[in-house]
Amino acid sequence: MDMLVTDGKVHDEQRQGEAFAPFVQDPNQYRKHFYIESYGCQMNFADSEVVASILNAEGFGATRNLEEADLVLLNTCSIREKAEQTVRKRLHDFKKAKAKKPSMLIGMLGCMAERLKSKLLEEEKLVDLVVGPDAYRSLPTLIEEAGGGQKAVNVLLSREETYADISPIRLDSNGITAFVSIMRGCNNMCSFCVVPFTRGRERSRDAYSIVAEARDLFERGYRDITLLGQNVDSYYWMDEARDQVVTFAALLEQVAQISPDLRVRFSTSHPKDITDEVLFTIARYENICKYIHLPVQSGSTRVLQLMNRTYTREWYKAKVDRIREIIPDCGISSDIIAGFCTETEADHQETLDIMRYSRYDMSYMFFYSERPGTLAARRYTDDVPEEVKRRRLQEIVDEQGRLSTQSNEADIGKTYKVLIEGNSRKSDDEWMGRNSQNKVIVFPKQGDQDLRGKYAWVKVTGCTRTTLLGELA
Ligand code: 5AD
Ligand code: SF4
Repeated sequence: MDMLVTDGKVHDEQRQGEAFAPFVQDPNQYRKHFYIESYGCQMNFADSEVVASILNAEGFGATRNLEEADLVLLNTCSIREKAEQTVRKRLHDFKKAKAKKPSMLIGMLGCMAERLKSKLLEEEKLVDLVVGPDAYRSLPTLIEEAGGGQKAVNVLLSREETYADISPIRLDSNGITAFVSIMRGCNNMCSFCVVPFTRGRERSRDAYSIVAEARDLFERGYRDITLLGQNVDSYYWMDEARDQVVTFAALLEQVAQISPDLRVRFSTSHPKDITDEVLFTIARYENICKYIHLPVQSGSTRVLQLMNRTYTREWYKAKVDRIREIIPDCGISSDIIAGFCTETEADHQETLDIMRYSRYDMSYMFFYSERPGTLAARRYTDDVPEEVKRRRLQEIVDEQGRLSTQSNEADIGKTYKVLIEGNSRKSDDEWMGRNSQNKVIVFPKQGDQDLRGKYAWVKVTGCTRTTLLGELA
């Protein structure tokens, strides 16, 4: 089983996707309803919210009830083989629902669209429409075509599409945290990754539309916004009106200036691209969260070279040093791949070592799974045996477990400003929130005031491996 591990907790792929269906907006307001599930990364979740907005303009209301839906959509991920298997299984479930309601249309969106379009549409007849990540504006036409019994496909990638003018409809939202997409695609060509092929060339979204979206969210009560891109540090947008380039640091600053009560986060940073300017901007604004997701992938320079990550072990360590120097209280997390092509035991030890050096608070940990069409699939042999990959991954998971515990224990006695997101998972008598470092803190309520979306000072009194426990300070 391919797996995703967060905070030392093992989840399956579906958990990563945390597949969701949206809230019903007003069941009586719409004659037609759509149902959508998303898998994969946060980018995909953000895309589903753009899709919801496009469908809403066409008179579709969202439903959580699959049977009620006229249109059922699956926003897919193809980053690992397991993700594809999950999607296929869900499509079979949908086909059963369609058997009971033949007018139902089933559509596949997202990263799997291009590669599996003919297979799923023509051979297996599992879907009625297939829409790639840059073609969501054509959904209304495609729905019409599919409704008329035609094959409806658009998987064209674009060099320009950023959906800048589309105001996403927040799906399954807690009303406090939201994602804002700032760019699309990726130019990095890491050899293991399908993203450059499924999502196309990198392009940045109009900065004005980003700031406007963030401001609108703030005015509607949202307090924690994550700026999203595959590689946020290469954000680059030319403001023609002012004849000025907007860099990622400048964008961060503009969003942070909306209000000191708005927390700003971002993901993902590439170690080769994150600049001192960005680090100093984070340090300067209290409301830019002191947390950086800085995927290392491997601790071995030789493996990093094969992965085409364009940095060395030393460069990465120097980046971590620089972060700790400029932002001493910064949380750092990582993505790690075990068992990439040719990885030796010594390479693996270097990965464990760089984890300890970086003192990650949390990591997403994977074993390598070859993806068709990638540089690695074309150039290298996937030669690390499965059981070796699993054993190495387990060692990485265990190491992260120790590091997460150490990091949490070091917080005991400290007091943090916490944004309250809702009840804790275990009890309605406890609040759950996050500190700037993105750690979850759970603490007992005092009184029955509704504090969701409010800040509180919380003193950490204990911890588990994944959560801080505290009390109001
Ligand atoms: N195999 C395993 N993990 C992968 N990732 C991306 N592609 C693969 C692959 N082929 C991981 C990387 C990336 C994260 C989103 O998924 O660690 O940062
Ligand atoms: Fe999956 Fe990558 Fe596509 Fe996100 S961009 S959905 S992680 S393949």
